[in-house]
Amino acid sequence: MFTKKSVVDDDERRRREHPAIRVRGLEKSYGKVEVLRGVDFDVARGSIFALLGSNGSGKTTTVRILATVLKADAGTAGVNGFDVATHPADVRASFSLTGQFTAVDDILTGRENLVLVAKLRRIKDPGTVVDGLLDRFSLTDAATRKVSTYSGGMRRRLDIAMSLIGNPPVIFLDEPTTGLDPEARIEVWQAVKELAANGTTVLLTTQYLNEAEHLADRIAILHQGRIIANGTLAELKRLLPPAKVEYVEKQPTLEEVFLAIIGDDGTNHTTDTTTREHE
Ligand SMILES: Nc1ncnc2c1ncn2[C@@H]1O[C@H](COP(=O)(O)OP(=O)(O)OP(=O)(O)O)[C@@H](O)[C@H]1O
Ligand SMILES: [Mg+2]
Repeated sequence: MFTKKSVVDDDERRRREHPAIRVRGLEKSYGKVEVLRGVDFDVARGSIFALLGSNGSGKTTTVRILATVLKADAGTAGVNGFDVATHPADVRASFSLTGQFTAVDDILTGRENLVLVAKLRRIKDPGTVVDGLLDRFSLTDAATRKVSTYSGGMRRRLDIAMSLIGNPPVIFLDEPTTGLDPEARIEVWQAVKELAANGTTVLLTTQYLNEAEHLADRIAILHQGRIIANGTLAELKRLLPPAKVEYVEKQPTLEEVFLAIIGDDGTNHTTDTTTREHE
């Protein structure tokens, strides 16, 4: 028999003993194509972790395994201290997933979208929860407008707000800003930062190197089926010597670190000024 106290104690113990996400030796092939060939990483609670990789490197595959949508061929993955293979229901209760394409309903208003999800998730007092989320994602003014009138950034923020109903401790954001303009991207970044500030663990995948650079506490680079680098931005930058331009010492951008590590062309990182425009 579980008492309420023992459930709370269990939660507390899991929080102390397990990182929010733990992946060990993960392997996955589609037919003969080996996509993941032994992926290892941990994501600390309350942190933002960026999984970086080229098209087809296996980012979505990794997220889908963590989300219990897909089974790994080998290795283990845990979310919130629960193993995806042995405790999939507990894993599913621990995260929410926001995919690349927004799941919001155009015909409804922003508020109606949120209330709908809150009711589906049987949240007590949906109105209060929804008002809180609208406020947190700066959507209060637009709350009664149909989503069809929203900008891309607003839709994304609404989508992320929807995925937070029920307070999942972990959120997976698969390419949260793909297709957004720079301004909308910054709006979403702000929302993601606030999530982490409120204690939510964020695993995000991205192809935008500056996104990882701006947002993530740690960045892992997935390449040819393995994590070939994993560290803070400062740690990754230390993998390359500081670039020097005449008398001015410059640190390499994450983009340069990324390209050099994956071996695409690490030779021109000292002189190519076109890749430094966003600095
Ligand atoms: N259901 C599937 N059947 C066969 N191959 C698949 C399937 N899903 C993914 N793949 C292949 O696995 C590889 C990894 O795909 P995945 O979607 O995980 O990459 P990704 O890193 O998310 O790429 P992107 O940046 O384009 O989203 C790709 O080569 C892809 O074609
Ligand atoms: Mg993908």
